[in-house]
Amino acid sequence: MAQGKNQAMIDRCMAHNFWTWSRQKEIQPIPVERAQGVFFWDFDGKRYLDFNSMVMCSNIGHGNQQVIDAICKQAQELTFAGPHMATEARARLLEKLCEVVPQGISRFLFTMGGADANENAIKIARAVTGKHKILARYRSYHGASHGAVALSGDLRRVPWEPNVMGGVVHFPATYRYRDDLVPDAMQLADEEYAARHLEYLEKLIQYEGADSIAAIFLEAVTGTNGILIPPDGYLQGIRALCDHYGILMIVDEVMSGFGRTGTWFAVDHWQVKPDLITMAKGLTSAYAPLGAVGMREEVAAYFDRRKFDSGLTYNGHPISFAAATANIDVLQEQKLIRHTQAMQPILLKAFNRLKEKHPAVGDVRGIGLFGAIELIKDKKSETPLGEYGKTPTIMNELQKFTLSKGLFHYVHDNLILVIPPLIVNEEELAMGITILDEALKTTDTVL
Ligand SMILES: Cc1ncc(COP(=O)(O)O)c(C=O)c1O
Repeated sequence: MAQGKNQAMIDRCMAHNFWTWSRQKEIQPIPVERAQGVFFWDFDGKRYLDFNSMVMCSNIGHGNQQVIDAICKQAQELTFAGPHMATEARARLLEKLCEVVPQGISRFLFTMGGADANENAIKIARAVTGKHKILARYRSYHGASHGAVALSGDLRRVPWEPNVMGGVVHFPATYRYRDDLVPDAMQLADEEYAARHLEYLEKLIQYEGADSIAAIFLEAVTGTNGILIPPDGYLQGIRALCDHYGILMIVDEVMSGFGRTGTWFAVDHWQVKPDLITMAKGLTSAYAPLGAVGMREEVAAYFDRRKFDSGLTYNGHPISFAAATANIDVLQEQKLIRHTQAMQPILLKAFNRLKEKHPAVGDVRGIGLFGAIELIKDKKSETPLGEYGKTPTIMNELQKFTLSKGLFHYVHDNLILVIPPLIVNEEELAMGITILDEALKTTDTVL
């Protein structure tokens, strides 16, 4: 009977919902009734360990009473106010953000999520510099709207071409395990590896014409495309190139912000100060939708006496503001950044054990609680388990298995992503890893 409840819910949603990123008749939605901490439950009472923070966004975990209370209080006091109204909820979030963002970022434009934060960052960069080109990286994702998807350097852009925003030039990401530009990257020290990428990027700037380039736009640590952690010197080098050529540096921290990598923002690991920084997801831990573009005073000052000709009805939803402020309070009060730092070596140790044990595990990497396990056909050839841009059937089977065992995580191409809420403890991490360990037998046996 209980199984019937799950199916009934699926049937009701399937009847009228139009699903994203899916073939409408083939999707198998997961029925979810409630969520608490690092777990969620279906209508049958089955518990799932959330190893993806839903959509890499529930940084403080589910059902946090402090945030729920703040949302309820805000709904009682002032449910909505227009974009040009000065409210307590807006002022409190602005002040709170200034406590945690990289030094120099002091002005914020609010949006609904990540894609529109990125769209607005582009508009601002183009207006401020009077230039139009944007350099962005392959193996990146910046959102699904026409401008943000044009920036995206993975195959999610391609179905919408050529009608996406123009003026984007892509360059290779630092992907040490399979570097497109530096084949011997695994043997190089950070400095040399970073230098080789920066040399290429400088050439690209010259070929494209520095006077036509408004911004270099990148994820500080690449998310879904493989948790690609830049070598030391790389982001600092991009900062230097931007300064030298009069280009703005825009960092997309939609996924990597708010403690995910063990610092407030991923750029903090390298003390790099971007000109603009975009955020969403962990900004509210998804208790309500909100994105933001943070910028330096000099960037915002361009519009001091010129009109910024753009906007959104929900620029300034008080409920989202209240959720964000309470969420940052929780990150601070529960010392979740420090906790994430403490969890990193535990996660990496477990990952390395999986790598030693399973022939299909080629590389493991992670920073904070932002991890990926990359699968290969065999250790000798290190051929990826599946083609670029295609999640092989075996990965989907692996995911079905882990789901049946009560573990929820994402797969992308030949990657297993491990991105749990930052409140996850050692025991819960071990619980998920044990299921992955068992699941990896599936990929070992097809070799
Ligand atoms: C790095 C990055 N930027 C932007 C986005 C787009 O955010 P949204 O889905 O809120 O528009 C995402 C979403 O996954 C992301 O990971």
